[in-house]
Amino acid sequence: MPSEGGKGSLKPWGGRFAAETDPLVVEYTGSLGTDRRLWRHDIMGSLAHARMLARQGIISPEEADAIVRGLEDIAREIEAGEFPWRTELEDVHMNIEARLIEKIGPSGGKLHTARSRNDQVALDMHLYIREEIDALDQRLKGLQAALFEKARAHTASLLPGYTHLQRAQPVTLAHHLLAYFFMFQRDRERLADARRRTDMMPLGAGALAGTSFPIDPVSVAKELGFGGLYANSMDAVADRDFVVETLFCAALIGVHLSRLGEELVLWAASEFGFVEMDDAYTTGSSIMPQKKNPVVAELLRARASRVFGALVGLLTLLKALPLAYNLDLQEDKPLTFDALDAVKVSLEIATALLETSKFRVDRMRAAAADDYLLATDMADYLASRGAPFREAHLATGKAVALAASRGLPLRALAPAELKTFHPAFDEGVLEILSPEAAVNRRSSPMGTGPGSVKAQLELARRLLHA
Ligand code: ARG
Repeated sequence: MPSEGGKGSLKPWGGRFAAETDPLVVEYTGSLGTDRRLWRHDIMGSLAHARMLARQGIISPEEADAIVRGLEDIAREIEAGEFPWRTELEDVHMNIEARLIEKIGPSGGKLHTARSRNDQVALDMHLYIREEIDALDQRLKGLQAALFEKARAHTASLLPGYTHLQRAQPVTLAHHLLAYFFMFQRDRERLADARRRTDMMPLGAGALAGTSFPIDPVSVAKELGFGGLYANSMDAVADRDFVVETLFCAALIGVHLSRLGEELVLWAASEFGFVEMDDAYTTGSSIMPQKKNPVVAELLRARASRVFGALVGLLTLLKALPLAYNLDLQEDKPLTFDALDAVKVSLEIATALLETSKFRVDRMRAAAADDYLLATDMADYLASRGAPFREAHLATGKAVALAASRGLPLRALAPAELKTFHPAFDEGVLEILSPEAAVNRRSSPMGTGPGSVKAQLELARRLLHA
């Protein structure tokens, strides 16, 4: 047992210490409360490391067998909630190693040959982040599927599209929802790119300078499914850029979710009345009996802030940190775990919220019927008859001002009145003044016209099944 250290210390590093660590220091520097969630990754890495040590003749096959069986037994204990976690052992790595030695005897102490906690924890974080990226991708895809289904159901549902949160031009709800589909598609692509740089194995870097043992990290990387190794051992233990990148991706997912959340909050307000959320996804007020609050959408809007905090926190942690490993790096975990948990659950609940919400097609159509939204179409009408667009814009603006001064829609203006603003105005202009016609005319690539939306849906289907 590693107990030769100061006054019967359990610490594997106890050898050079004469006095026990102050309890406050144990508490301040320990990370077990956070990093124990890495136990699976830690054991997975240790299993691969032990097998490699035996293949390379660094430990005997019998020792490796005992280590493997011991680690598998520990995994069972942890899963069953029977593992004796000890905070005085600092972190998940030392807890598992100490337990292994308790179980199989001194040969358990050979597991840490040619390894340091510095490359061990870097490995655990790579394994963890790789899994989290896959979990995020799966949840993003789920949300995309919900957006796709709603879009498919609403290719003919019109609503105003907004700029400056002012009614701008009519669009279809399918078009609006597909905008989010493609934002989340780019989030998936960004994560896939971050995954390529997470898919590198740091184990074998040792404390910082490599090892004098004849290790074969390439075979360990293969066993753990990594695409390759770090080229430089100091880089391998010192950087957490792959975590920063992943948190950035998560922050941007948070931004996208917050925009969706905000629109759903607005649309649920009676002033808009575009969406009716399911009772199961809203809550009431403790005083106002009539309230049905869009709290899930509000928190979709809010949760992003936590992820930004984690991203800035991690950047700050790494800034000006000297090479190679420093205990500062231990603080990456609470930030990272909290942020990724927040985004994962937000993606799940956003999906459910969307699936269970009903869009009020009648209310959206009524808002889109405001024919000032067709002023651009009126200007386009003149421009397509040869008027320079600036001239057409000016003439249409005057027509809008006249109609507004009377509190009437554009279609209430007489053709003769329109002609006073521009000679190219004729009766034909009245035919274009419907939101359906306006949407149908937006047939350019990317537009809200039916051809473009159909192409977007086809692309979305392909991406979902890719
Ligand atoms: N708990 C540490 C971390 O999370 C593991 C490595 C500690 N290494 C050391 N020499 N103290 O980063």
